[in-house]
Amino acid sequence: MPEKRPPFIAGNWKMHMTVPETRMLLEKILEAGPELGSAEIVVIPPFTSLGEAARILAASSIALGAQNLFWEDKGAFTGEISGPLLRDIGCRYVVVGHSERRQIFGETDGTVNRRVRAALRSDLKPIVCVGETFEERDGGQTLPRVRTQFEGALEGISHEDVRKIVLAYEPVWAIGTGRTATPGQAEDVHAELRQKFEEMYGKEAAACAIILYGGSVKPANSFSLFREKNIDGFLVGGASLEAETFIPIVKEAMKAYKEVE
Ligand code: 13P
Repeated sequence: MPEKRPPFIAGNWKMHMTVPETRMLLEKILEAGPELGSAEIVVIPPFTSLGEAARILAASSIALGAQNLFWEDKGAFTGEISGPLLRDIGCRYVVVGHSERRQIFGETDGTVNRRVRAALRSDLKPIVCVGETFEERDGGQTLPRVRTQFEGALEGISHEDVRKIVLAYEPVWAIGTGRTATPGQAEDVHAELRQKFEEMYGKEAAACAIILYGGSVKPANSFSLFREKNIDGFLVGGASLEAETFIPIVKEAMKAYKEVE
């Protein structure tokens, strides 16, 4: 059984937040800093706000992440952003294979794998997203689906590199819908993913793996989700855009952590 570690909470801002809005939100999060305890916090702004966010967060323990990267390091790829460019601006994490990228932009397990490798090459920690659609859940395909996504994303990744990967289970039907997976539904999938880690990389790597839940996480469900054995934190969308909802999510998870610690 994995030991519970402090909550890892990442805010995926998606295509929101101008530079002034970024400044305002981060200042509020920094102000709340001392109340957030040992939680590991990552903010993931749009590309245009990364520079300002990096400046504001420079002296803090809050880490910066990006929402995507291209698999080549440089070259004539108009409109793309590479790992070295993200590293240069101060990112430590990068989201790969978000369901919105898969569904709207044609991302496949193969391209997810290329991006994971590119992130690792640039010393960025990939936050790899997996998750089933409503139809797949309905058809009893949830576990096979996430297993396939897991295998595709991690193909050829070494034992050493796998320790830098954060996994996020985001059921597509729960994203932005207000329909959260129940703690039990999420835990079943998280346990399965940790089992996959163990099969492919051994017990110790599985115990160390960070597996986040994402999909309508709110202050009201943070506590009960985080109490589950295999849920190590959250990838938060809508509720990460306001300090008034993001900070209580962190606090609720910390409360649950202290209870099970
Ligand atoms: P919501 O929290 O808005 O459902 O989004 C989840 C998500 O997609 C995070 O990456």
